[in-house]
Amino acid sequence: DQSVFDVDLAPIEPNSGISLRWRGKPVFIRHLTAEQVSAVEATPMKDLLDPVPVKQRVRPGHHQYAVVIGICPHRGCIPVGNKASDPRGPYDGWLCPCHGAAFDAVGRVRRGPARQNLAIPPYRFVSDTLIRLG
Ligand code: FES
Repeated sequence: DQSVFDVDLAPIEPNSGISLRWRGKPVFIRHLTAEQVSAVEATPMKDLLDPVPVKQRVRPGHHQYAVVIGICPHRGCIPVGNKASDPRGPYDGWLCPCHGAAFDAVGRVRRGPARQNLAIPPYRFVSDTLIRLG
């Protein structure tokens, strides 16, 4: 729960994710496969409830890593989808267990009742596989 710390992304296999805590909040980090990156990039803006392009959800040159705050914008439940055994919902991202909101692999809301994308914490890459969160 420190306010600034580094996270090593190297152990996160493609098509998997981790959850950690930052400032008392859950933060999810997903390592997307090339196919998953292509899939989110191919989604038409008109299909999104809170339309933003993928490049605003990831860092330049690091489109394979999504870093989001794991709190559902509807009523604050913690979505599932990080563990291999978790359902990810119909958009291969995260699924909110409370009322069924579904998010894509970069945390954009695809199905309500949530109407906003998962928030993104402040972070930057300090090397190819290390981020500084906070
Ligand atoms: Fe997530 Fe309601 S709190 S769908």
